[in-house]
Amino acid sequence: MKSIATIKIDEKVYEFPILEGTRGPKVLDIRSFYKDTGMFTYDPGFTSTASCNSEITFINGEKGELRYKGYPIEELTEKYKYLDICYLLLNSKLPTHEQSIEFDNELRHRAFVDEGFQSLFNAFPRTAHPMAMLSSAVSALSAFYYDHVDISDESEFAQMSGRIIAKIPTLASLAYRRGLGIPIIYPDIDRYFTENFLYMLRAYPGGKMHRNINEKADTKISDIEVKALDTIFTLHADHEQNASTTTVRTVASTGAHPYGAISAGINALWGRAHGGANESVIAQLELIGNVKNVDKYIAKAKDPDDSFRLMGFGHRVYKNFDPRAKILKKLQDQLKDELNLDSRLLEIAHKIEDIALNDEYFIKRNLYPNIDFYSGVILTALGIPKNMFTTIFVIGRTVGWISQWVEFKKDKKAKIARPRQLYLGL
Ligand code: CMC
Repeated sequence: MKSIATIKIDEKVYEFPILEGTRGPKVLDIRSFYKDTGMFTYDPGFTSTASCNSEITFINGEKGELRYKGYPIEELTEKYKYLDICYLLLNSKLPTHEQSIEFDNELRHRAFVDEGFQSLFNAFPRTAHPMAMLSSAVSALSAFYYDHVDISDESEFAQMSGRIIAKIPTLASLAYRRGLGIPIIYPDIDRYFTENFLYMLRAYPGGKMHRNINEKADTKISDIEVKALDTIFTLHADHEQNASTTTVRTVASTGAHPYGAISAGINALWGRAHGGANESVIAQLELIGNVKNVDKYIAKAKDPDDSFRLMGFGHRVYKNFDPRAKILKKLQDQLKDELNLDSRLLEIAHKIEDIALNDEYFIKRNLYPNIDFYSGVILTALGIPKNMFTTIFVIGRTVGWISQWVEFKKDKKAKIARPRQLYLGL
């Protein structure tokens, strides 16, 4: 039986259907609210608003549960590589062995970008933030593929999705290398997606590889490094209707080019309340500098008159724990010796975690470490500088954005995003 909610306003009773999804809370369908009552609903920050139907990702924030296409994130990170997760998000099923090889191979060949991008990157000052360069480059990508997106054709969706997923690591590496003023390195089709990205960061013409610019040793890329980064990509692959995904869907709703929508998503992600938090976490640990200073900064975070926040703590949806953070904490512990994690930063992070998890302020507000609290220490050990961290989030999330873009385009009832307001002006 269809359930109905009644709302009484000024003695008049209105009825609204209650919708039930396959998982998650029931949803009150207020689409006719304005037409029926002449009133708007008010929900800044969308804390109580479901903005679309989706079959991609499910989160239960109270239980700390995250699923892609029905599969728990724990199972996906344990058993599958990142490109299989991309396949799952794009095709709603995990690939067979042959499909996995074919998809991997297709992406390797799509990883190259037009030579013109070198001039584009050279036009940026070397001090430019990699996120500024990356979002601009993705926007520029829409100029190269303007005529080729026929969304009525299923294979066009696949081509358009594969292209952007494959090229994003190449563009991120160009941003990194521009910042250092060093020659570009082309993708190596003999390497898997994640290994290839590390290669494009580390390699020098002549074949030597350095984990970072100051290192003299020739650093091979180890399997454990590839596995660690691959896990980080998988954990970032999608996260339902967060700020950047909502941005992508909003831009999609106007009929703009898909890569324009992704570029807008990248800029939304950059902020430190969202994906930019991973860079801020390490910057904050460096600022704290010593375990002796942790108490002082915890006090600042709790002070209502101080805007200081503990970066990597809290989440709009997770009110118990962030399952992604749990996986990364375990990975961090496993990698401690193998990857030579920075013990000083780890010591400060552990102290913050210990204090915050037992402190009334954080407990009362359900503030737990989120994914960004743990990813930075691992990325640092991979030789990736902190201004590149949010581009790592971008590489992982691109598949989520493009899957959500495709889902939006296939929804025949989708409308342009156009909220209203509570006007308080003259
Ligand atoms: N440190 C100290 N206090 C905090 C923090 C924090 N990190 N986060 C929230 N609070 C307090 C906040 O001051 C407020 O207190 P009060 O009720 O006394 O006014 C209360 O907790 C609720 O905060 P809110 O800002 O209303 O919560 P929100 O759901 O709107 O914001 C958040 C969520 C993630 C933006 C916020 O927790 C935050 O700014 N965290 C730090 C940045 C961060 O780590 N972001 C990464 C999120 S995970 C990656 C991703 O998926 O994007």
